[in-house]
Amino acid sequence: MSEFKPVRGMRDFLPEQAEMLRSVEGKARRVAELYGYKEIVTPVVEPYDLLSAKAGEEVKSRMFLFKDLGGRDVALRPEFTASVARLVATTLRNEPKPLRLFCVGSIYRYDEPQRGRYREFWQSNYELMGSNRPEADAEVLMLSDALMHQAGLKKHAFKIGHIGVLRGILSQERVDEKIQNAVMQLMDKKQYDDAVALLEKSEIPRRCTSLIQKLVVIRGTSVLEVADRIKTLVEDYEQSVEAVENLKEVLGLVSESGCKIDLTVEAGFARGLEYYTGMIFEINIPDLDIAFGGGGRYNRLIELYGGEPTPAVGVAHGLDRIMLGLEMHKTPERSEERKTVMVIPTKDELSGQALRVAQLLRMAGIPAELEIMRRRMVKALEVADKRKTTFAVIVGEKELGEGAVVIRNLSRREQDTIRIERMAEYLKCHT
Ligand code: HAM
Repeated sequence: MSEFKPVRGMRDFLPEQAEMLRSVEGKARRVAELYGYKEIVTPVVEPYDLLSAKAGEEVKSRMFLFKDLGGRDVALRPEFTASVARLVATTLRNEPKPLRLFCVGSIYRYDEPQRGRYREFWQSNYELMGSNRPEADAEVLMLSDALMHQAGLKKHAFKIGHIGVLRGILSQERVDEKIQNAVMQLMDKKQYDDAVALLEKSEIPRRCTSLIQKLVVIRGTSVLEVADRIKTLVEDYEQSVEAVENLKEVLGLVSESGCKIDLTVEAGFARGLEYYTGMIFEINIPDLDIAFGGGGRYNRLIELYGGEPTPAVGVAHGLDRIMLGLEMHKTPERSEERKTVMVIPTKDELSGQALRVAQLLRMAGIPAELEIMRRRMVKALEVADKRKTTFAVIVGEKELGEGAVVIRNLSRREQDTIRIERMAEYLKCHT
């Protein structure tokens, strides 16, 4: 039989990476608490119809789709938003609004594997349901910035736009929704020429395609000024003007909040997912050409799933990519150095006593490992040292007779004989 390897695009997380993932996840959970988002856990497998309703062609074509044994079309979740919207349309439909919900877990997309792009990856996801106010949009931007800071990422920047600017033009020009969606997909991939070519084929007026060509190059960090330039350009399109006004309100609120988010407004910015109706954004790190998070406003999804019309805004962050960013900037995400303890009996007959000592330590809240390879003392100490264990607790006959053990600090090579009832206290106050 050939050697087994993980499936392409899937990875093992060895202890150090697993610790890092859980630590970043912990920070995401902390941000959720700080902003009042309650955690929910949703299934990894969902009905394909639910997931595909407004996912957009790109995400739809990359789903891990299969028939379960009952013949149902199901897929591994390619995002959390559909699951949360399903809940708000059904079980949570009568909950008072706003609803702030948080999820974290694995996500599956059949993307082409490369650095920072996997087929199984982790997201932290925040959805704010029930408010159409720009404060809600500002909150989602601010919590995303807070997560990047909490995680320890530096130099992250936000790209922001409003899907209503382009959609407003295309709708007024009566461009069919399917073509609009295809144009957005191309814009998302920055294939602006192809997007314009597609519009030309659908025979929209020349002045409209040239307006779109002008828009896609407009971007800048003087955000309100850029927004005003966009507004002047789209003045003949009522919905587009409203979209820019809305974006300006969001930008104004973020600025008033005192939160120093590095923002660039991009007029031609679009996202692959089709459910967006308002402000959209992505988070990037200048020297890495991948998004660390993305989100926006989607006011019609819950209604589409049969729920009450519920405006909503949300974001998801790629935890694997945050880890990659931390590694790149050499700010290793290390949890606090923990003391580690290895309990070693001096002879086989004392194994039961060693088990008892280890258990007493754990009951006092001190993680303890037991020497279970029946190594001789010298060898056991050598192995403990190699593993960077802080203390060896040596269980010997003579000391046990006096109700004590020997505690050895492996890096300092010092040791004390300590009574068993004082062992935990001793370990807690020594380093
Ligand atoms: P998304 O932009 O598709 O948005 O994904 C969010 C983040 O997931 C990306 O910015 C990226 O960090 C990470 N990500 C995506 N694909 C991969 C991959 N193949 N490998 C590693 N990381 C990846 C959403 O998923 C929306 N549901 C966000 C949202 C929530 N919008 C409203 N509410």
